[in-house]
Amino acid sequence: MANAAPVAWVTGGTGGIGSAICRALAKEGYQVVAGYHNPEKAKQWLADQQADGFDNIALSGVDLTNYDECVAGVTEIREKYGPVSVLVNCAGITRDGTMKKMAPEQWHEVIDTNLNSVFNTCRSVIEDMLEHGYGRIVNISSINGRKGQFGQVNYAAAKAGMHGLTMSLAQETATKGITVNTLSPGYIATDMIMKIPEKVREAIREGIPVKRYGTPEEIARAVVFLADKESGFITGANLDINGGQFMG
Ligand code: CAA
Repeated sequence: MANAAPVAWVTGGTGGIGSAICRALAKEGYQVVAGYHNPEKAKQWLADQQADGFDNIALSGVDLTNYDECVAGVTEIREKYGPVSVLVNCAGITRDGTMKKMAPEQWHEVIDTNLNSVFNTCRSVIEDMLEHGYGRIVNISSINGRKGQFGQVNYAAAKAGMHGLTMSLAQETATKGITVNTLSPGYIATDMIMKIPEKVREAIREGIPVKRYGTPEEIARAVVFLADKESGFITGANLDINGGQFMG
């Protein structure tokens, strides 16, 4: 039986930024469904959320690179909780390396996980949103999709591509009560940036005008804002949250 609370599906929900987004949306009263990749990690993650009093967060473990799995995942969410009214595309990976050293697999893995997944999820929820005349889609891109980054031809291409999808889908859905926006975080203190060699990472931090990394919570509060019913005039936009590192 469908739950009365509006449903928010957060892909990459168990990750560094995703966790903060799930918790922030849960605090706003959404029934949150967190996407995950690693079942063992997800089980523990859910137990942690429940221990913190979040009883309106659930899990959905579809392979986002597989369209049919996404459709099946959304069908299951609809049956359990109701149609998805907020979709946050937060799943993403890095496979950094300079072009001269990058294997084709590094390119395809990142494009599949970070960009093709966004088509798969948006396509899976859009018909419900159109039918209900309401929806909020927030695509979590990156500062590096805006400015490029040494060692990230794959990641920057995927993240820039996300915003092309955002602007196009925003135009297609503008008269249907649906907004589609991109949020471009800078360097946020999560496990993902800990993979950057320490020397390189320190140089990046020094280059951020506010002289620190962002926090996942600083991204989550902007997601809550864009997901709000009252934010209906914001569509096709990109919001940079990067401590002043890139002002485009
Ligand atoms: N600008 C200019 N030159 C650079 C450079 C830079 N930013 N970084 C490295 N170089 C130079 C090195 O000094 C070296 O020069 P020499 O050959 O003259 O000695 C050369 O480039 C190294 O080239 P290699 O192909 O050998 O590179 P590598 O194998 O040593 O590693 C790298 C390159 C993997 C890209 C490494 O520099 C790296 O991890 N950089 C960080 C990339 C990054 O910022 N990733 C972001 C991850 S977080 C994220 O993506 C989240 C988000 O959205 C913000």
